[in-house]
Amino acid sequence: MNLLPQPLSVTPHAGTFTLPPDLAIDASPAHAAIVRRLLAPGTGLALPAAAGGAVTVTSDATLPAEGYRLVVDSSGIAIAAADDRGVNWATQTLRQLLPPSALRPAPTGAPLEIGYVTIEDQPRFAWRGVMLDVGRHFMPLPDLFHFLDLAALHKYNIFHLHLSEDQGWRFESVKYPRLQEVASWRTETRKHLDEHGDGTPHGGFYTQDQLRALVSYAAQLGITVVPEIEFPGHVLGVLAAYPELGNHPETGYATATSFGIFNEVLNMSDDAMTVVLDLYTELLDVFPSPYVHVGGDECPRVEWLDNPAAQALAERRGLPGPDHLQRWFTEQLRDWLAERGRQLVGWDEINDEGPLEGAVTMAWRDASYGVTAAEAGLDVVMSPSPHTYFDYYPGSEPTEQYAIGGLITTETAYGFEPLDGIPAAQHDRILGTQCQLWTEYMPNLRRVEYMMYPRGCAHSEVAWSNPEGRSWAEFSGRLDAHLARLDALGVNYRPESGPHPWQQGGTGTLRRPDAHRIA
Ligand code: ACM
Repeated sequence: MNLLPQPLSVTPHAGTFTLPPDLAIDASPAHAAIVRRLLAPGTGLALPAAAGGAVTVTSDATLPAEGYRLVVDSSGIAIAAADDRGVNWATQTLRQLLPPSALRPAPTGAPLEIGYVTIEDQPRFAWRGVMLDVGRHFMPLPDLFHFLDLAALHKYNIFHLHLSEDQGWRFESVKYPRLQEVASWRTETRKHLDEHGDGTPHGGFYTQDQLRALVSYAAQLGITVVPEIEFPGHVLGVLAAYPELGNHPETGYATATSFGIFNEVLNMSDDAMTVVLDLYTELLDVFPSPYVHVGGDECPRVEWLDNPAAQALAERRGLPGPDHLQRWFTEQLRDWLAERGRQLVGWDEINDEGPLEGAVTMAWRDASYGVTAAEAGLDVVMSPSPHTYFDYYPGSEPTEQYAIGGLITTETAYGFEPLDGIPAAQHDRILGTQCQLWTEYMPNLRRVEYMMYPRGCAHSEVAWSNPEGRSWAEFSGRLDAHLARLDALGVNYRPESGPHPWQQGGTGTLRRPDAHRIA
């Protein structure tokens, strides 16, 4: 059966159910819509609603959140779930029980047969995330829909959308239109550390209506979109649009054309805070997610330490010095979000001045930041760069295209254990795990798919499945079969046997021995 991610239990029985052309669904309209949306295109079945239909969906409050029971036998297909997500995940499993061609967007006439089986399934972790950086490279809206389809196939339930960077701002603001007019564009891109810019303007942004459609589409698939707009660092684009928010407006700013960590940060004045809260107000109106990511990583303090205005500001706010301005800022935002029923998520630097109560820590520098945060009683998403940064090289072959550095093979990704080093008493502080696609060197979706899969197949199983008895040998056999599904969908995944230049979808430039991670 080669299901991926591996369900909790799978019990095959003798016999085969053949889906008839007039297969009907006996379910609530909402549940029928979920099954139909996922199953109808590739099977060509209309799946009308009818009492006594051979596909049944029943609500079962005794099942865990997102869990499901799926039984295929001579009477048809029976799904039971406690919630809509459970119905989604059951239907994703059902799609994997059919031949790979049934995943295609239109039917190709393959036989629609499923061996009798009973599956009991539930996720190990509540946060099964994938982050896409659309700041370094803008991805057209239809690409995001496509990306979500694939994430849902792997039972990811969080899409962390990283919407702002030094190199580009992607969120339309009604109040601050220069963000989309100026900050969303850069004049060119320096594709490698040691090369000049390519002379080609790059940019784009999503309108609020487009993002509302994305949120709605994701919700239909069981996915929550967690938005991130980032302050006080990684803001060069913002400063290009509104220089008065910087520490040295007189020097002028430009949206970054190269990659790295920049000293230019928000000036933290009351006026800057007003702009920030206005922008989050617009963001909350578009994204209903209970979690809102505020960034918080890689914010140098040199401009504040050098700046008498920042020193005066720190004093007025009762802080020990200007290097505490970021902590002050994050606490303000945490409380502001909490008043609006949202919870702040930030990269692990938010705890550099001590555990930030009431916030979710996204541990990225390494797992130890997650261990420390969990020991302090904070909720944590384990996203450590050595295992979950899929901008790292997927293999060490000289034919790999240029990437930011590092090496995470599919086996490395599969070997990640999010609870490693976490004391048993703190296990429930680990909300889950998330993989990251930083796009400095991923100019398009084709490249994103190459870097995401099959490492994302491995990570999705780390996030969803029970780890007992896990083995790379068993997984890699199952992965081979799963890759036939990605073939049917035309996904530009990296072959486990190694890359071909034409498959990589990136800049076309090969890896360099001096490549290293810079941000
Ligand atoms: C990060 O990779 N700077 C969160």
